[in-house]
Amino acid sequence: MWSYVWSLLLLFVVCKDIIIIVMAKSTESPAAVILLPSQTGVGSVCSAPDPSLNYKPVIGVLSHPGDGATGRLNNDTNASYIAASYVKLAEAGGARVIPLIYNEPEELLFQKLELVNGVIFTGGWAKEGLYYDIVNKIFTKALERNDGGEHFPVYAICLGFELLTMIISQNRDILEKVDAKNSASSLQFVENVSTQGTVFQRFPQDLLKKLTTDCLVMQNHQFGISPDNFEGNIALSRFFKIVTTCLDGNRKAYVSTVQSKTYPVTGFQWHPEKNAFEWGSSKIPHSEDAVHVTQLTANYLVSEARKSQNRPPPEKVLSNLIYNYKPTYCGYEGRGYDEVYIFTQQRSLL
Ligand SMILES: *[C@@H]1O[C@H](CO)[C@@H](O)[C@H](O)[C@H]1NC(C)=O
Ligand SMILES: *[C@@H]1O[C@H](CO)[C@@H](O)[C@H](O)[C@H]1NC(C)=O
Ligand SMILES: *[C@@H]1O[C@H](CO)[C@@H](O)[C@H](O)[C@H]1NC(C)=O
Repeated sequence: MWSYVWSLLLLFVVCKDIIIIVMAKSTESPAAVILLPSQTGVGSVCSAPDPSLNYKPVIGVLSHPGDGATGRLNNDTNASYIAASYVKLAEAGGARVIPLIYNEPEELLFQKLELVNGVIFTGGWAKEGLYYDIVNKIFTKALERNDGGEHFPVYAICLGFELLTMIISQNRDILEKVDAKNSASSLQFVENVSTQGTVFQRFPQDLLKKLTTDCLVMQNHQFGISPDNFEGNIALSRFFKIVTTCLDGNRKAYVSTVQSKTYPVTGFQWHPEKNAFEWGSSKIPHSEDAVHVTQLTANYLVSEARKSQNRPPPEKVLSNLIYNYKPTYCGYEGRGYDEVYIFTQQRSLL
């Protein structure tokens, strides 16, 4: 009979890289095992902040036309939205978010861009007009800021990556039809590619291996670009290295992760934000490994944003944070996004 139960007291004293784990049986006096840092002989040294890093990074997320719910929430022609999962992705990495509302007066939008340390271009469908122009302008500004010596990361996810492909190649017809709607897939790493300096650089080896065999990433797109066409375009192959590809439903290969060769710009033809934060499709992987992919992807973005030395006035940051807006829960429909932030009117908070 297993009636003899040990109870364990776990005491973790964590400071800097020192972890002391003391385990004791209940029969012993607990007092004997609780050691103050000064008693361990190791001491507690809280490291001084690294002056080269920004510990309060803020990520700008660009809103997309519509309400994110095909009119169920809001039919205003000027409405734009951000799926909350992109906000949560930045937050999961330790950043706060400022929404960049794509159709607000450009001057205001670019003032807000001065308050952030990196940008996310989200998924969606808008490939022309004002939305295309604004993505182009923000992207150009991001490159300028990097050229000017400020580290300024960009995550371009799904539509965001498709738009950068069009912008960099200067070819609006460069995308191809692919069959990758609402399905999970693996990622195939380009032979011998180095993951250093890419989003995968701190993925554990076993997770990298699982990514190539398990369906750990969510796909939901009808467009893409084949590795041959990508490499065949001089501008694209100069700017990006292909890190992973995927096979679509017709076993046609498309480029799925790219890393800029010279800028902290990462493109994803998959959805790192969905695994942990979206529930509207039964195809979204939610395993511990899949959620770990979301978390590591969040960590990489924010670790890059911490290198940004842009430190705007805190009060301006506060008055523009996403916390000034309320998301709407729309998950009852069982499809689409679970939560969206909807923007219908200008909000001049600067
Ligand atoms: C938007 O318009 C559609 C079609 O007319 C309608 O079904 C829907 O209820 C409207 N949405 C709202 C929030 O009023
Ligand atoms: C939509 O935006 C345009 C341009 O800013 C503005 O002229 C128009 O009044 C807005 N419409 C609504 C319904 O807010
Ligand atoms: C990858 O590395 C292996 C071992 O170094 C080498 O034999 C192979 O040719 C490389 N493949 C490519 C495409 O460079």
